[in-house]
Amino acid sequence: MSSKIGVVYILLVLLLFKICSVSAFTNISDASALQALKSEWTRYPESWKGSDPCGTSWVGVTCSNDRVISISLANLNLEGKLSADISALSELQILDLTSNSKLSGPLPPNIGNLKKLTTLNLMGCGFSGQIPDSIGSLEQLNTLLFDGNQLTGKIPNSLSLVKNLTVLRLDRNKLIGDIPPSLNNLTDLFELYLASNRFTGSLPNLSNLTNLHTLDVSNNQLTFSLIPSWISSLTSLSTLRMEGIQLEGPIPISLFNPIQLQTVVLKRNQLNATLDFGTSSSNQLEFVDLQTNGITGYNQPANKPIQVILADNPVCKESGNQQSDFCKASQSNNSFSIPQINCSSCSHGKEPTPACRCVYPITGTLTFRSPSFSGFSNNTNFIMLQKELADLFKDPKYQMEAVAIRNIKETSPDHHLLIEVLVFPLGKESFDETGMNRVITEFSTHNFDPPSIFGPYIFKADLYIPFSGGSASSNTGIIIGAAVGAAVLLLLLTIAGIYAIWQKKRAERATGRNNPFAKWNKSKSSLDAPRLMGAKAFTFEELKKCTENFSEANNVGGGGYGQVYKGILPSGQLIAIKRAQQGSSQGELEFKNEIELLSRVHHKNVVRLLGFCFDRNEQMLVYEYIPNGSLTDSLSGKSGIVLDWTRRLRIALGSGKGLAYLHELADPPIIHRDIKSNNILLDESLTAKVADFGLSKLVGDPEKVHVTTQVKGTMGYLDPEYYMTNQLTEKSDVYGFGVVMLELLTGKSPIVGGKYVVREVQRKMDKSRSLYDLQEFLDPAIIASSGNLKGFETYVDLALRCVEGEGLKRPTMGEVVKEIESIMQLVGLNPNIDSATSSRTYEEASKGSGDPYGKQ
Ligand SMILES: *[C@@H]1O[C@H](CO)[C@@H](O)[C@H](O)[C@H]1NC(C)=O
Ligand SMILES: *[C@@H]1O[C@H](CO)[C@@H](O)[C@H](O)[C@H]1NC(C)=O
Ligand SMILES: *[C@@H]1O[C@H](CO)[C@@H](O)[C@H](O)[C@H]1NC(C)=O
Ligand SMILES: *[C@@H]1O[C@H](CO)[C@@H](O)[C@H](O)[C@H]1NC(C)=O
Ligand SMILES: *[C@@H]1O[C@H](CO)[C@@H](O)[C@H](O)[C@H]1NC(C)=O
Ligand SMILES: *[C@@H]1O[C@H](CO)[C@@H](O)[C@H](O)[C@H]1NC(C)=O
Ligand SMILES: *[C@@H]1O[C@H](CO)[C@@H](O)[C@H](O)[C@H]1NC(C)=O
Ligand SMILES: *[C@@H]1O[C@H](CO)[C@@H](O)[C@H](O)[C@H]1NC(C)=O
Ligand SMILES: *[C@@H]1O[C@H](CO)[C@@H](O)[C@H](O)[C@H]1NC(C)=O
Repeated sequence: MSSKIGVVYILLVLLLFKICSVSAFTNISDASALQALKSEWTRYPESWKGSDPCGTSWVGVTCSNDRVISISLANLNLEGKLSADISALSELQILDLTSNSKLSGPLPPNIGNLKKLTTLNLMGCGFSGQIPDSIGSLEQLNTLLFDGNQLTGKIPNSLSLVKNLTVLRLDRNKLIGDIPPSLNNLTDLFELYLASNRFTGSLPNLSNLTNLHTLDVSNNQLTFSLIPSWISSLTSLSTLRMEGIQLEGPIPISLFNPIQLQTVVLKRNQLNATLDFGTSSSNQLEFVDLQTNGITGYNQPANKPIQVILADNPVCKESGNQQSDFCKASQSNNSFSIPQINCSSCSHGKEPTPACRCVYPITGTLTFRSPSFSGFSNNTNFIMLQKELADLFKDPKYQMEAVAIRNIKETSPDHHLLIEVLVFPLGKESFDETGMNRVITEFSTHNFDPPSIFGPYIFKADLYIPFSGGSASSNTGIIIGAAVGAAVLLLLLTIAGIYAIWQKKRAERATGRNNPFAKWNKSKSSLDAPRLMGAKAFTFEELKKCTENFSEANNVGGGGYGQVYKGILPSGQLIAIKRAQQGSSQGELEFKNEIELLSRVHHKNVVRLLGFCFDRNEQMLVYEYIPNGSLTDSLSGKSGIVLDWTRRLRIALGSGKGLAYLHELADPPIIHRDIKSNNILLDESLTAKVADFGLSKLVGDPEKVHVTTQVKGTMGYLDPEYYMTNQLTEKSDVYGFGVVMLELLTGKSPIVGGKYVVREVQRKMDKSRSLYDLQEFLDPAIIASSGNLKGFETYVDLALRCVEGEGLKRPTMGEVVKEIESIMQLVGLNPNIDSATSSRTYEEASKGSGDPYGKQ
């Protein structure tokens, strides 16, 4: 029996090779390891299907030469156990399962077989049991993040064999036993976090960790001890946290020797005697927290502005000291603003500019996961940050009056640095949408480069009040909620992604090796591999074979940009390949940026990018193939599909949602530039998908907008305002969409016999008559198949607002979607059936309603 199955399998394999003889198969042993991994998960990514993970873009899986080299699945709500079969992935370099709190059970004992592993990031999961002894075999391991799990037992001694470790985080677990003295062998360590466990015994001598920047051993049940003298030999130490570990006795002056020391937290111990920084103490020292100890005296340093907290110490019971700053229980407020703004407050959510004008600034929060300084009493770094922001936005194209930062905070217990940013509009009360996007894009594309001590960042923009929806209907709520949800997801994903890279980068710097992460450094031009969510890099040969050498028979269309070919992957999946014609291709960096951005576009109503090819001077984009062809095909009767009134409404809604997603939720936003019925495709269930936005204009790229001399678009759909002014905005897409809405009524191309549907409808319509007296324009197929056209008049009104001559008068796509939804409700249709909410997280989006994960 099984041999028969084997034969069938081989035949299938041969057949597929015949169709497309490229070796895009995942190494069979890797493929079965991933299948085993998946089978232990009760929730896994929806795209994890088929038998060829490398060939069919399993999300988060990266391959090289058919071997799996990286699994990055942060924050995907995965659930289940980590299969021991993962150890078969012998080429795996990165395993990142950050923030999947429902991943539980023990770590596989044989995890040490992953000999190539450099990053093992399981922070914020629910793993329990012991850290496997085999961890000591991971010789290449650089970053080990196990923080925030439920791990128990002792730290295995073998961990000290992982000599390449630079970042070790075991904090916030339930580990017991002694802190092993052998950790002192990990001399490359940069960050060591052991806080909030149940360690006992005393601190071992770690004097050899001379690269250590952060030592955090807070909140463990250690035995009473003096402050160890070896700490003063940690010459790179910048942050020392030893809160609540039963330290007693005096604080040696030598503790403050490390020249880079900035932050010392020794709260809740039993330290006594007099606090004295001596004369030779660190000139970087900023913040010393000794709250709740037995300190009896304080020799204040003469001219060093160190912020000291001695509240709840005997010294603060003395009457002369009670009012002193050092006896206050909390850090001083960091609610200062740079520059300082001395104006009376404004109303309606407006904020004063430094010149005291009340305006709507763009606001948002910068999150720095790993700044290489701590303590905020010295403003120098923040003044520098503000200056760089002001420099960036002073270019007139941003129309910016001023930039301010304020509300500088450190989160607890994970010690992130948060800073609020305000960008004020110049001469006006608010930015227009293009201006807003222009500003936000500087952050989302990481064009803004903060001073290096801040490290990489995440920017999360707040909703911009002028555009946050005046008419607060329930639908607005959904869209805003979804936008926030997507932003949060993106934030978490980005934090997780950046963290590992940044830690490694810091480590590289510390050990004096070359920095391979030129990505963060704009002055280096070397291009590293694009960071793609599930999109695959195809070789030219692969795509050539999949399309029978780009044969005419497989050419399914073309446009100004190039030709589109149909192809078939070895897995049997159909694909559409968009091949740039020579001369219309862009620069390397632009192409790389573009595919990075497009690979993040995931929505049920947008055709999905599966991969790309950047090989032999070719630039190709590989999309999913949509079987029922374009809306034009269906309207013209070519595809044999009958579109009744309700189907047309659903198509309008679906394509509207896709477009609204590109405008409002894609990051950065994307203007399609060529919305027409030919670019709206219908899948097997007639769900509309917006196509051909690839290589379209990204919003917030004003340089290019202004230099564009060639107006792109298709006659009949072209926004007259754009045509005349050359200024491209989202509203140009809204115009094209309005034409498509009319086309859905007439079933004909927008310009027939020299007559333009927009003008004809405007001219002919008579609001006092039923169906606005437009019967003669209607596609006979609607009338034949539909009977009553409920909501018709509202639909026509909406379409005509979309084709207003002036962009400002046209609704946004978000508003269009809302209105079509209410038309559908009027007709008695549920707008949410057969189509998901207007935005979903990237996993959910491609699947639509129902369980976004494989197992239903
Ligand atoms: C697949 O990987 C295994 C190691 O796990 C290796 O022994 C085998 O040769 C690989 N197969 C192919 C076809 O590369
Ligand atoms: C440490 O990593 C480097 C590559 O980054 C590797 O060449 C070296 O062998 C590793 N060290 C050990 C002890 O494995
Ligand atoms: C620490 O460094 C000293 C001097 O470099 C060396 O003699 C000692 O063996 C090292 N200790 C450990 C545990 O590596
Ligand atoms: C740590 O290093 C010392 C000397 O460098 C060595 O004697 C000891 O065996 C090492 N310990 C471990 C657990 O590797
Ligand atoms: C810590 O170890 C170093 C060498 O590794 C040694 O020189 C030093 O005296 C030790 N310090 C203490 C306090 O044990
Ligand atoms: C400080 O604490 C140590 C240990 O608890 C104790 O021996 C010593 O007498 C105390 N010193 C003062 C001045 O209280
Ligand atoms: C900090 O700011 C809050 C209000 O934001 C205020 O209530 C508090 O008194 C301030 N604390 C200090 C120490 O200034
Ligand atoms: C606000 O006041 C402070 C001192 O009170 C002054 O230094 C600063 O320049 C003022 N800021 C502005 C924008 O006027
Ligand atoms: C503040 O920090 C900067 C750079 O880190 C340093 O040059 C300066 O001396 C510090 N100022 C004070 C008052 O400590």
